[in-house]
Order: sequence, then structure tokens, then C-alpha cells
Amino acid sequence: MGGSQAGFDLVVDGRAVTVDDARATLLDVVREQARIRSVKDGCSPQGQCGCCTVLVDGQARVACVTPARRVRGRRITTLDGLDPDIRDRWTRAFADAGASQCGFCTPGIICRFAALDAAGTDHGDRNAAARALAAHLCRCTGWQPILDAWCAYPDTGPNPEPSQKADRSPADRRAAIEGRSPQATGPHVAAGRGGFADDTAPAGALVAVPAVDGSGWVTGATVAEARAAAGGGVGRRATAVWEPPLAPPPGHWNVTLSTSWVEPGYLETDAAWCEPGGEPASPLGNGGAFGGKQNSPVAVAARKLAEEHQRPVRALWSRPDAAALGPKRPPVGAGVRADGTGVVRVARTPGIAEVIKGYAPGLEVEEVDVAGPPTSCAVRGAGWVEAAVLLAAARGAVGPVAVVAPAGGRAEATVNPNGSLAVSVRAGQPLDETVLRSYCTGAAHMALSWVTNESLSVDEAGTVHDLTVRSFGILGASAMPPVEVTVVADDAEPVNGSDAVFAAVAAAVWIDRGLPPAWPTG
Ligand code: FES
Ligand code: FES
Repeated sequence: MGGSQAGFDLVVDGRAVTVDDARATLLDVVREQARIRSVKDGCSPQGQCGCCTVLVDGQARVACVTPARRVRGRRITTLDGLDPDIRDRWTRAFADAGASQCGFCTPGIICRFAALDAAGTDHGDRNAAARALAAHLCRCTGWQPILDAWCAYPDTGPNPEPSQKADRSPADRRAAIEGRSPQATGPHVAAGRGGFADDTAPAGALVAVPAVDGSGWVTGATVAEARAAAGGGVGRRATAVWEPPLAPPPGHWNVTLSTSWVEPGYLETDAAWCEPGGEPASPLGNGGAFGGKQNSPVAVAARKLAEEHQRPVRALWSRPDAAALGPKRPPVGAGVRADGTGVVRVARTPGIAEVIKGYAPGLEVEEVDVAGPPTSCAVRGAGWVEAAVLLAAARGAVGPVAVVAPAGGRAEATVNPNGSLAVSVRAGQPLDETVLRSYCTGAAHMALSWVTNESLSVDEAGTVHDLTVRSFGILGASAMPPVEVTVVADDAEPVNGSDAVFAAVAAAVWIDRGLPPAWPTG
């Protein structure tokens, strides 16, 4: 931040912070200057994810679009500055309800709920809580556990002594199986301390961001300085009409389907940091965004730049960077017959043909070169889920749709006449039912959102035009129907269950909607 006006003080969590730049946002001051890492940056300066929410005189405010100078003399409180008893009750309510998976969205949501609670809102009023979440996004939980946490607060009992705290290792193991990368569970995750790479970067590290013209990485002393040098903007939402890029192949089919580019849409954008000669912090902590960050280039960049500059370097993607550069779910255009034979045309993606044919040997796979963003097989269930959905629809499944995932997890899903979803899952030993249910609810949300509402606008040259987090189409809290999850326990080795739920719900929703030939169905 280059100074352009005399400094002024902001008091954050009772501590004075001197602001030297009149253009600084409240997020710049709280996260970058005061280094309060529970306040997250999921989309700044778009103001669309809610992860940076703090309290200003007790009112929830989105910090990334709040100029710091506008809140001079006001009382600014982050999650860290809440009364410790209140903060502990909230973080335990979230942990007990399975309402915090990666935990990136949670501190902002807790600030929102703390304001709602202070205003005297009834904790039996789920709709009021859902409406209050309109300014927030959560990609992991499917919202329902968050509303459960609202209803459970403040009945969380006295704070247990550390020695009495339950062993969380079964819950952590279940979370890692469902998230497909190391994940912790518990109140510290709800407090935003799950271990995101950018939160642990040392003070004074150089900040590196991708140049908008694609020429490589640009560095600066601060995030604001690096982004200004990179030439980035806020990112737009496209106004062009969305078109799925691949038509089904010609033929006589029982069902056809065309899907679009789909953004994994994880809220914690890619980040890593490294010291000269050191190992980079993993961009996968806490959770790998359901495969979306599996091959993120930020760790390699942080290591290389730390060597070059001989000082610690944070490598960071902004929201538009993640939208433009990150891997997408490959679009398909497919036709399938009732006997399970057919053709799947799919955007060329390393490994995708093997995945589809391994799951559905009766399907031919045609990989097609389509101008567009990178795609990846690592994105949740890419390829086999589309095959499972097509096979279920083509054979005319009625009643609950059953899916067995390649890893062995089994799920059944039903769309009830009132639009609510019923899911059952069998994934070996549950280890922790709350955690397993939370991942299954989140998978149901991701599937419903994908089938009905998610796509990216990509032009014929392959450029992504939807660069804001709201333009991906992720369903908000008020749009999410109830999900009833039944866990069928057995003694087998635990396996991933939520990916099977993701596939079963996607199929059940598509069948319930009458099999429109293109997604999102609206
Ligand atoms: S970071 Fe401020 S709303 Fe997303
Ligand atoms: S727990 Fe909400 S985004 Fe991960």
C-alpha cells in the first residue's frame, strides 16, 4: 500500500492499527496489517462470498468492500475479538453440527450469526438464519449443518477441559476420506484455524500473483501492491448467453446430455508460501477442495520465487485467477441406450477416457479438443459420475436411484414430491456419523447445484468470462431444500461415501426434472 494521505488509527479487537493508505480496505487492515487470520479473503474485492465478514459496531459488514477510512472511530470486531465464551460456544456449535468442513467460510458466518443473535433472533427460526446467509457462500456443507448450528446455539454446555475433549481422530479420518486430502475437524477449524497455507505465511513475505496478461508472476510487498502491479481487476460476470460446448453424437438414444464447463468453486483460492531452500506450504490444507486444487501450481511457484528473491514468498491466486486458470469439470455431450451402450464425447482431459470406460465399459469415449479452460479428472467424480447419471437415466430408473462408486461407497437418493432430498449412504465404518452426514449433505447440495444452476460462460476462443464467485451458480442457503441422510453402518473398512451421494443425487434430480438434455436445467 503506497501512502497517499496522513495515517489514521483503526481499533480492531481493542487494538489500535495505524492505516497509512487512504485507499486501504477494512480487509487489508484486518488481515494484512493486523494479521488476524480468521478473517478470510475468498473473493476480494468482489464482496460476494462473505468470508471476510466482521462486526462494525455490532453489525455484520463485508470487509473487502468497506473502505477503512469509512469506519474510523467505529468498534471493529472479528471472530477473534468476540467474547471468548461466546466464541467458544459458536465454534463448538459448528463443530458439533458438522457445520465446518474446510472452515474457510465459517468465521465470517459466525460473525453474521453473532450479530443475528445479539438482535434477539429466535434460534428456532431457520428461515431467518438462511436469509441472513444471503451474503455468504459455503461450498462444503450444503448449508443444512450450518442452520443446525444456528438452532443448537447456545446449548453447547460448559467448555470442556482440554483433558476431557473427545478424541477427534476418527472424525478427522472420516473427513480426510471424504475430502480426499488431510482434513481436521473440531472447534479450531470452525475458528478458521484449519491450517490454510496463506494464514501461516511469515510476516514480511513477498507476495506473488499471476500477471493478468499471462506473462508469469508479479511480486509486491503487499497483496494490494502485487495485484495492482499484475493489472488485475475485480472480475466480471458474463452477460453472454451460456451454451454447452459439446452436442451429443448423432444416433438413436434413450437419453442425451450436454453439460457445461463447471467451476469447482472452492472458497479458499490457491495459496502457498515458501522460504528459500524450504518446502512450500501445501495449498491443500485444510482440504483439497474435492480435487479442485490437486495440481495447483502455486507451491512450485512459491518455491521458485523464494529462491529467486532469497526471501519468503506467498504465491496467491485471486478469485478471477482461480476462475480463469484453475481446472474445471470437463463438459460432455453424450447419448446412451437402455442397455448401457452409448457414446460420451468429452473435452480432452488426461485420464478421463480410462475413468469413464472403467466405470461403464459399454460406453465409447470420444475426446474432443474444445477451446476452453484447463480440465481435470481430479475434480470430484469427473467422468464416472456423468457415466453413472447417464446409465441410471437410460435404464429408466424409478424410485430411489442407487449408485456404487469406484471406491466402493454406495448411495441411494430420492427427490420427494415436496422437493426435499432423501439420501442413504453405506461407506463402511462411519467413524463419525456427524462428519459423514455433513459431507453427504454437502455432496447433495453440490449435485443439485450442478444439475440445476452451475455453468461458466466460455467464449469460442476458450476465454472464461464468469470471473466472480456468484457467477458460478452455487446455490445459496435459501435455495437449498432439506436433505435427510441415513447412514447405513457396517464393519467394513471405511471408504468415501459422499462421492456416491453426489452421483446418486445428480441422477435423481435430473430424472425428477424430466431429463432435460442440457445442464444446468434451471
Ligand atoms: S472476500 Fe470479501 S466477500 Fe469475499
Ligand atoms: S466449510 Fe464452508 S466453504 Fe468449506
